[in-house]
Amino acid sequence: MSSTHNQTTAYQTIPATNATTTNGPPAPVFYVGVVVYEPFDEDLKDYNTQKFEDLAKRIVAVYDMLYRKAFGALFVRSYVISFRVSVTSRIRMNVTEVEVGVEFNQTTPLAELPRNEEVQKTLSDAIDSSYNHTIMDVPFSPGSVQIIRTPLPTTPPTTNSTDTTISPNSTATTAVNPTTNTTTPSTAVNPTTNTTTPSTTVKPTTKTTPTVEATVTRKVTFRSLGETFTTDLLNPSSAAFKNRAALLKSNLEPLFQRTFSTLRDFTVISFSNGSIINNMDLKFSAAFVPSNIQISEVLLKAALIVTDFNIETASILVDDIQVSSGVSHNISLITALSLVLLSWLLSNQQ
Ligand SMILES: *[C@@H]1O[C@H](CO)[C@@H](O)[C@H](O)[C@H]1NC(C)=O
Ligand SMILES: *[C@@H]1O[C@H](CO)[C@@H](O)[C@H](O)[C@H]1NC(C)=O
Ligand SMILES: *[C@@H]1O[C@H](CO)[C@@H](O)[C@H](O)[C@H]1NC(C)=O
Ligand SMILES: *[C@@H]1O[C@H](CO)[C@@H](O)[C@H](O)[C@H]1NC(C)=O
Ligand SMILES: *[C@@H]1O[C@H](CO)[C@@H](O)[C@H](O)[C@H]1NC(C)=O
Ligand SMILES: *[C@@H]1O[C@H](CO)[C@@H](O)[C@H](O)[C@H]1NC(C)=O
Ligand SMILES: *[C@@H]1O[C@H](CO)[C@@H](O)[C@H](O)[C@H]1NC(C)=O
Repeated sequence: MSSTHNQTTAYQTIPATNATTTNGPPAPVFYVGVVVYEPFDEDLKDYNTQKFEDLAKRIVAVYDMLYRKAFGALFVRSYVISFRVSVTSRIRMNVTEVEVGVEFNQTTPLAELPRNEEVQKTLSDAIDSSYNHTIMDVPFSPGSVQIIRTPLPTTPPTTNSTDTTISPNSTATTAVNPTTNTTTPSTAVNPTTNTTTPSTTVKPTTKTTPTVEATVTRKVTFRSLGETFTTDLLNPSSAAFKNRAALLKSNLEPLFQRTFSTLRDFTVISFSNGSIINNMDLKFSAAFVPSNIQISEVLLKAALIVTDFNIETASILVDDIQVSSGVSHNISLITALSLVLLSWLLSNQQ
C-alpha cells in the first residue's frame, strides 16, 4: 500500500508514528483549521488513500510556506490531522474542512511562541490578500481560519459583559482583555527577554504568560422585509442606527448566548437598503465555533419569536453564504415551532 510513501515526510498524519522520542515536553503545536473549496470525498477520511495524500501535500505546502515565512526557524513543520466535510448550499457541493497541525520548535519558551491570533492571522491575511483567495492553487474560503487547539495556556473569558458599545468597525479576531488602556500598573513587567542568565536552575513550567483568548468572528446577515430604510441608518452615530442596533442586540444576543456558551461578542456592524439589511459580527471562542448551519438555526427560531423586527428566513447569510439548505431548514422550523408552542404553553400556566 505504501509505494508512494517514500516521497512523503513533508506531511504526516498524527505524529504518533514518527515520534522521535526526545526528552522534554512535547513540541508545541497549534491546530489550525480552514475550509478549502475542494469537493469532499469519503477517501479523505482515510490517510492511507491517494486522495488524502494528494490534498494533504498541497495544503501542507501552503502552510509550510506561510509559517516559515512568518516565523522562520521557530516553525518546524505542518501536517494534516484530518479532513471533514463542510457543507454549504450556495455552491451546491461538498467542500472540505481541514485541520492542520502547525508545529513549533520544542525548545521555544512559551513566552516566545506566537500568540493564537498571530497564528490565525498568518493564514487568514494571506488568504484575504491573495487573488481570488487561491494560494498555490489551493482555493481557500476566506474567514474560515480558526485555531482549534493551542499549546498556550488559555485564560477563562472575562465575564465583563457591560460592553455594549456598538462599533462600526469589524476588526475583530483579537479579544484583548478589557482594561487595556496602556499598561496596567499592577505587576511591573519584569524583563521577559532575559536571554543571558547563566542560571541553569529552575527553567520552565511557570505559566505566567498573559494570554489572549483566540476567537473566530462570523459575519451574519439577514433582511427585514417590509421595513423602511432611512439614510441615517448608514451613520453609526445617529439615533436611528443606535436604536436599531440596540433592538437587534437585545433580542438576538440572549438567544445566541443561550445556545452557544462560547459566544464572546455580538456587534451590529451596519445596515443597508433593501427593505433593511442587517449586518452583525458574532465572535466566538475558538474553543468552539458553531457551524454556519447552527448559527442560522438560531435566527430561524428567532424569526418565529421576535416581534420587534422582521427576519426573512430565506435571507440569512453566514460569512456571505446562504446556509438555509432545504433539509436543515425544514427540520429546524419544526423544532422551532415546537419550542414556540412549548413556551406558549408554559407562559399560559401562570
Ligand atoms: C457530500 O458528503 C456526504 C457525506 O460524506 C456524501 O454522502 C454525499 O454523497 C456528498 N455529496 C456530494 C454531492 O458529493
Ligand atoms: C530547535 O532549535 C534548536 C536551537 O535553536 C535547534 O538546535 C534544533 O535543531 C531545533 N529543532 C528543530 C526540530 O528544528
Ligand atoms: C480564480 O480566478 C480564475 C480566473 O478568473 C478562475 O478561473 C478560477 O475559477 C477562480 N478560482 C476560484 C476559486 O474562484
Ligand atoms: C476602523 O477603525 C480605525 C481606527 O479606529 C479607522 O482608522 C478605520 O478607518 C476604521 N475602519 C472602518 C472600516 O470603519
Ligand atoms: C484610554 O486611552 C485613551 C487614549 O489613549 C484616552 O483618550 C482615554 O481617556 C483613556 N481612558 C481611560 C479610562 O483612561
Ligand atoms: C432604498 O432603495 C429603494 C429602492 O431601490 C429606493 O427607492 C429608496 O430611495 C432607497 N432609500 C434610501 C434611503 O436610499
Ligand atoms: C422542505 O420544505 C420545502 C417547502 O418549504 C419542500 O419543498 C421540501 O420538500 C421540504 N424538504 C424536506 C426534506 O422535507
